[in-house]
Amino acid sequence: MKKLPKYQVTLSTQRLKLRPLSGSDVESIVTIHRDKEMSEMLSDSVPFPYTKDDAILFINKSHKNYKENENIEFGITLKDDDTLIGIIGLDLNPKDDHVTLAFWIGKAWWGEGYMSEAVAEVVRYCFEELDTHRVASHHFHPNIASGKVMQKVGLLCEGRRKEHYKKGDAFFDIIDYGVVEREWKKESKWQKKER
Ligand SMILES: CC(C)(COP(=O)(O)OP(=O)(O)OC[C@H]1O[C@@H](n2cnc3c(N)ncnc32)[C@H](O)[C@@H]1OP(=O)(O)O)[C@@H](O)C(=O)NCCC(=O)NCCS
Repeated sequence: MKKLPKYQVTLSTQRLKLRPLSGSDVESIVTIHRDKEMSEMLSDSVPFPYTKDDAILFINKSHKNYKENENIEFGITLKDDDTLIGIIGLDLNPKDDHVTLAFWIGKAWWGEGYMSEAVAEVVRYCFEELDTHRVASHHFHPNIASGKVMQKVGLLCEGRRKEHYKKGDAFFDIIDYGVVEREWKKESKWQKKER
C-alpha cells in the first residue's frame, strides 16, 4: 500500500464530491447525529447524544490520523452544495495492505443511491490509487441498507460473527464483507469510468 499523499485528495462521482473534513462541517455532523435511528446502527465510537465538542474532536483527530498514515475521512457533499451530508472513513492497515471502511449518511438523503455511488469511488481509490490489497467492511445485523451498499460496490459477504458486539445491554451479530484486488479487478464494471 502506498503512503498517503501529503494533502488529501478530493474525489468526485456523477453527483457527489468526497473531500477532506473542515471546521465548517461541525454543525452538519452534529445535526445528522441527533437522530437516534442513525446512532443505533453505528458503533459506540460515535457517542449519543452527539455534541459540538465531539464533532470538533473527530475532525481534529481525522487530520492528525491522516498525517500519521492511519486513517482518511472523506466528507460527502452534493456537487453543487458544499454542505456535508455524510462521511466515509477508511482505516488503513499498511502492514497487511488492507483498508476497512465505515460510512454513514444523514437520514434526509437515505435511499437516493448516494452511499453506493460514494463507496464505489472510494473502493476504486483504494485499489487503483493507494494500491491496497484488500478492502473490508462490516455491519450490525440487521442493517439491510448497509449490506446492500457493500454488495453493490463489489464487496463479498464473508461470514457472521455471532453476538460479537455489545451495545448497551444487547448483543449484535456482525456481518463481514471484503474483497481482494484480483477479485475486484475481474469485474470490469468497478473500474474508473465517467460517473
Ligand atoms: C446504510 C446507509 C449508509 C445507506 O445509505 P444510502 O445512501 O441510503 O444507500 P443507497 O441509497 O445507496 O442504497 C443502497 C441499497 O439499500 C437499499 N436501502 C436503502 N435504505 C434502505 C432501508 N432503510 N431498508 C432497506 N433497504 C434500504 C436501497 O434501496 C439500495 O438497494 P437497491 O439498489 O437494491 O434498491 C444509510 O442508511 C445510513 O447512513 N444509515 C445509518 C448509518 C449506517 O448504518 N451506517 C453503516 C454502518 S456499517
